[in-house]
Amino acid sequence: MDRIIDAVRQHRDAFDTPAVVVLGEVLRENIARMQAFADGHGVALRPHVKTHKSVDIGRMQLAAGASGITVSDLHQAEVFAADGVDDIFLAFPLWPSAPKAARVRRLLETVDLKLGLDSHEAVDATVDRGLAGVDRLELVIEVDCGGRRSGVAPSAAGDLARYAADRGLEVAGVFTYPGHGWALGAAEGAAHDQTAALAAAASGLREVGIEPRIVSAGSTPTFAWSAAPGITEIRPGEYVFFSMDHCDHGICSPDEIALFVATTVVSAGPGNPQIIDVGTMAIGREVDDRGHYGRIAGGGGAVTRVNEYHGFLDPGESPPHPIGTVLPLIPTHSCTAVQNASELLVLEADGTVDRFPVQQLGPMLAARERS
Ligand SMILES: Cc1ncc(COP(=O)(O)O)c(C=O)c1O
Repeated sequence: MDRIIDAVRQHRDAFDTPAVVVLGEVLRENIARMQAFADGHGVALRPHVKTHKSVDIGRMQLAAGASGITVSDLHQAEVFAADGVDDIFLAFPLWPSAPKAARVRRLLETVDLKLGLDSHEAVDATVDRGLAGVDRLELVIEVDCGGRRSGVAPSAAGDLARYAADRGLEVAGVFTYPGHGWALGAAEGAAHDQTAALAAAASGLREVGIEPRIVSAGSTPTFAWSAAPGITEIRPGEYVFFSMDHCDHGICSPDEIALFVATTVVSAGPGNPQIIDVGTMAIGREVDDRGHYGRIAGGGGAVTRVNEYHGFLDPGESPPHPIGTVLPLIPTHSCTAVQNASELLVLEADGTVDRFPVQQLGPMLAARERS
């Protein structure tokens, strides 16, 4: 956190707020540490790039040793494929409509593409779109390990895999996302649920004669327990930046937080709250366990309410900040702050600033751009 406070002290006057700022040194450390963890535990690291949506950061992760990338929609896949990434896992239950199937085909010209899938209907639709037996396309069956989002029961993975294989699709393995690990104190238990679910699903595939080459696990909160026997790869995303929530949950130390939003106190009339120029349009609506949307690095208050463009800053124990003060806000969730930015300002210790474009402004905008 000291490095964030120093950076703001140095650059305060240069920020055109609100701006998403990343400390280059901390970013590189986070990338190297997760890669060392994966290497040391004999699992591949396939980072989820929805966190940063930056081909510059993707290149850093691949150069450090990542085996490929994970994405959550076709637009992310297209952006990174255009930058030369040739091994992509779309870990989302893609419904292969005609336009999406055409895009999958285009991707397959340059990419080894793995598609997540969790239903017999999606298998049928994939076959009906002529994607069976197509080179470079593989399926990874999603199983639910307790997050109750998408995914079949682990005991049903073998049946679905056999069905897909019988219809001419290549099945590479199984994956899960331990989303219930986000709750306070829940990460280790969720990771154990994940290991059990993946083991059951993998043996279900073996029972129907399919050897799972990919047994893929999440995620930043659970990574420390995710390299269990039988798991072949991990897909953390937010570890590149971390966020306040990870810190509160003991997943990272304050010094490992790489991203903050530079914000200005814009209104603080007598009797009125302190207002900053960061609302839901900048950081989204996610709150931490205390109901905060973000906190000022090193003390200085928390954002307790947000409108679209106004953030309500409660200074807490610290004296009120004068109007015009630029502050470093650590958002509760980094991904949503990035989602709303067009670029990341990457600060280096020597004072230089790089600008990394954020390549993706959301699936709906992407769809508009294509039409
Ligand atoms: C399927 C899947 N895999 C991996 C991740 C990465 O999780 P995290 O950002 O917590 O590391 C996510 C995040 O939402 C996900 O949905």
